[in-house]
Amino acid sequence: MKILVTGGLGYIGSHTVVSLVENGFTPIIIDNCSNATPKVLSNLEKITGKAIPFYQIDITNLDALHDFFTREKIDGVIHFAGIKAVGESVKNPIKYYHNNLTGLTHLLLKMQEFEIHHLIFSSSCTIYGDVKTMPIAEHTPSQKLLSPYANTKKVSEEIIADVASIQPLRAISLRYFNPIGAHPSALIGELPLGEPQNLLPIITQVAIGKKSTFAVYGNDYDTPDGTCVRDYIHVVDIAEAHVIALQRILQNEQEEAVEVFNLGSGTGYSVLEIIRTFEKVTGVPLSYTFAPRRPGDLASIYADTSKVEKTLGWKATRSLEEALESAWNWQKNIPQL
Ligand code: WQD
Repeated sequence: MKILVTGGLGYIGSHTVVSLVENGFTPIIIDNCSNATPKVLSNLEKITGKAIPFYQIDITNLDALHDFFTREKIDGVIHFAGIKAVGESVKNPIKYYHNNLTGLTHLLLKMQEFEIHHLIFSSSCTIYGDVKTMPIAEHTPSQKLLSPYANTKKVSEEIIADVASIQPLRAISLRYFNPIGAHPSALIGELPLGEPQNLLPIITQVAIGKKSTFAVYGNDYDTPDGTCVRDYIHVVDIAEAHVIALQRILQNEQEEAVEVFNLGSGTGYSVLEIIRTFEKVTGVPLSYTFAPRRPGDLASIYADTSKVEKTLGWKATRSLEEALESAWNWQKNIPQL
């Protein structure tokens, strides 16, 4: 079956492309290359041993998207394409609403026109907003959202639900917590173009000497060691969950038009625990300083994974140590790519 992977050259998209091939699907990638290089494609072909069709398309370009669907007969769509820097979205909300919401509505328009009824959507734990009760379950009502980025993910889920209520669309929204790590081949991984914002690429750039030090944003939170707690999950576990969700909707096994699942490990780790575990696993000491809190950060957020384990039969299987080691192996391999 041919599966369109929008944003398939990105961090999670590229890992999902590998899992799709490993499970007998034929992925087709469209990506505007705004946050990924076509080099990722050749590494995907090395890992999978398959030629993977790629179209450089921006999904906010409706004509280009229409042309794609006239050329390729698609059985299902996994939609990653979007922008996701929380801080940037606060400074440039229009860019985020345009990219993430116009992109989605264009995709849904064309799926309707070409009678494609199966969608997996890349959502985020940021849609829960400023919540206090942990672990957090899917039915938890959203609190005040902390960024336009988070709002684009929440509104996207609502758009998908509205469309699926009057059309044959069957969708699953997957709410990622903190994806980290890289494919064991170290040929694909998190490769932020420009300055990384997420903790792990910053840590690995300090470890390899690309950055001299980094700031731990706040050590006065109401957490065991004062630093923020997050639910870090291996990106390959995340990728495998997408294939399981896709198989569920293609086999019409789901109980409602739209289902939503948390993708997390269910365990929270503080920033200092991540630092110490990284140093233990790699033997590389990290230089860091304590700095004031980062606006918009929650003290602690980690997933209640009971629903995804029960309904999808999926749970994270890779340890934090494995994820951190794979992130380090990837960082060391980047110059050779
Ligand atoms: C993690 C922790 C920081 C950098 C991300 C994405 C969000 C969503 C969930 C996709 C926080 C601390 C970070 C640094 C630090 N993913 N930190 N120094 O904010 O949890 O959210 O994952 O939808 O889009 O942004 O991830 O990696 O930025 O931060 O102390 O230099 O590390 O304060 O506690 P976050 P992050």
